[in-house]
Amino acid sequence: MTTTEVRAATTHQRLLDWVEECRQILGPDDVHWCDGSEAEWERLCASLEASGTLHRLNPDLRPNSFLARSDPADVARVEDRTFIASVDADDAGPTNNWRAPAELKAELLEHFRGSMAGRTMYVIPFSMGPLRSHISQIGVQLTDSAYVVVNMRIMARIGDEVLAQLGTDGDFVPCLHSVGRPLSDGHPDDPWPCDTDNKYIAHFPETREIWSYGSGYGGNALLGKKCFALRIASVMARDDGWLAEHMLIMSVTPPRGPKYYVAGAFPSACGKTNMAMMVPTLPGWKVETVGDDIAWMHFGEDGRLYAINPEHGFFGVAPNTSYRTNPNGIETLWGNCIFTNTAATADGDVWWADLTPTPPEGLTDWRGRPWSPGSGEPAAHPNARFTAPASQCPSIAPEWEDPAGVPISAIVFGGRRARNAPLVTAARDWRHGVFLGSILSSETTAAAEGEMGRVRFDPFAMRPFCGYNMGDYMAHWLEVAAGRDPSRLPQMFWVNWFRRGDDGRFLWPGFGDNCRVLRWITERVEGRAESVETPLGFSPTSDALDLSGLPVPPEDMDELLSVDREAWRGEVDLIREHFDSFGRHLPGELWEELALLEKRLEA
Ligand code: GTP
Ligand code: SPV
Ligand code: MN
Repeated sequence: MTTTEVRAATTHQRLLDWVEECRQILGPDDVHWCDGSEAEWERLCASLEASGTLHRLNPDLRPNSFLARSDPADVARVEDRTFIASVDADDAGPTNNWRAPAELKAELLEHFRGSMAGRTMYVIPFSMGPLRSHISQIGVQLTDSAYVVVNMRIMARIGDEVLAQLGTDGDFVPCLHSVGRPLSDGHPDDPWPCDTDNKYIAHFPETREIWSYGSGYGGNALLGKKCFALRIASVMARDDGWLAEHMLIMSVTPPRGPKYYVAGAFPSACGKTNMAMMVPTLPGWKVETVGDDIAWMHFGEDGRLYAINPEHGFFGVAPNTSYRTNPNGIETLWGNCIFTNTAATADGDVWWADLTPTPPEGLTDWRGRPWSPGSGEPAAHPNARFTAPASQCPSIAPEWEDPAGVPISAIVFGGRRARNAPLVTAARDWRHGVFLGSILSSETTAAAEGEMGRVRFDPFAMRPFCGYNMGDYMAHWLEVAAGRDPSRLPQMFWVNWFRRGDDGRFLWPGFGDNCRVLRWITERVEGRAESVETPLGFSPTSDALDLSGLPVPPEDMDELLSVDREAWRGEVDLIREHFDSFGRHLPGELWEELALLEKRLEA
């Protein structure tokens, strides 16, 4: 072990007591309080290289950057091992796995006891959101994974400045994490230690605690992200009247201004990062990035909804990220990045499908084996990811760290639907927008373990991330706006970039051309978009979308904007089942909206 014992730069007694209590249970050889410094990063990266977890990339090609290959059994979030342990099962609701908190803690303690033997326990104080923002929150993660520490240093603000902000008795969310691979058995360490058969991603909403065991990957292990900033924060938001959402935040500026801010909820691997960094194809239009995955939103004194990005980096999907589709994403990755489960090139760089039009010679796949095209397997894992500092993004908005947040004018919901969901629909009002959010459905992706391409309801793109009963969550969305001036509320929209033709190809070009839809959205916000009413809401008239220079045949545009009444009657049956599953928790207003939809479909 090359780490040296570092003492706590805090006198916060509750924190010190909790760390000591955990140390006794977990039994690490030593304890390291992370200060967040560059020197600490260098020391940890060097020790991770020595243990074979990280491979330094060619510094001439990608300075200060590393590749990690995970255990092939630890490559994505594990939804069936994610638990909401509320006191009352009803508070977890039908979309979550519920366990009784005391029982789950007892079971987990059996695993945690001694699980850090032979290892260092790192203490990571972190801030979700800019320091000194009234919207931000602090957490402290204990982990035996140095890989987690270096990723957290990119994804959140960590270290001494956070301890200083916490003071002597500030509130923090305790986040306990162990990869579950003690070194007491005399076996040498693995490059990617984990406990494949015993993963638990556990949340205790009442006590606002997170206990994660057995996995070192992404949202399972970087506990500030999905566990805190969505599952626990959604509970905080319910209790305190704000919103914690799986949303990108971007600005859109038309050629003659003004600048608008848009938040967008898309399920995992359905386009948030790409949209947040969009390079518009319409001349004179400008997009800037505030966040690519999570938004925390509070109503301001002026009645408008203000959003911050609680994160400090991007944990983005690597495959298919290319200069053609996401140049700002590619340029963000010039250095200071960690790549996980991508392929490697012979000259010590990373690679994934579409990064270059043809694969270079001599690739090594994500499992470290020689790879050649035609092998029938992808070179990079479909959920391979980059961890990159947000500040490196060429399109980052100058105000992205504004502690006051940015005022949101439009909220966009988007699923991945080959059929039925039109390119864009505007909601009639807030209540109808909540209805559209509540019936969002999408095909499952590689971001979570399990079957891919299965259509499921994913309300507000929050199904895997809501820390309480999803029916109550929908009611919360209605409540936060009750009694507010509707003209100050964001307008809501539903989009679908993923509609396919009978031949299987995408009908819409997507990416930078999505600005054509954004343009119509800003025109709606300004109250001057040309719209027609459909059973689902409002869509652009046939000539309201600026399609200049776009080779999409008119018949494809018709298909993209159409609402097939017959198909939608079928969808209504599924929506009824979906709503039924929430029983008395589903707000009556949404049943009323469903009845209105049915009526419009008959008309
Ligand atoms: P998470 O980080 O898992 O939450 O994902 P995300 O929502 O940020 O998705 P991301 O932007 O990384 O996109 C995921 C996949 O969708 C990538 O393969 C993209 O290339 C693809 N994608 C994104 N936008 C579009 C689009 O407009 N059209 C099409 N056809 N594909 C898109
Ligand atoms: C997602 O799955 O929505 C992600 C990746 O953003 S993870 O951090 O693993 O949750
Ligand atoms: Mn996500």
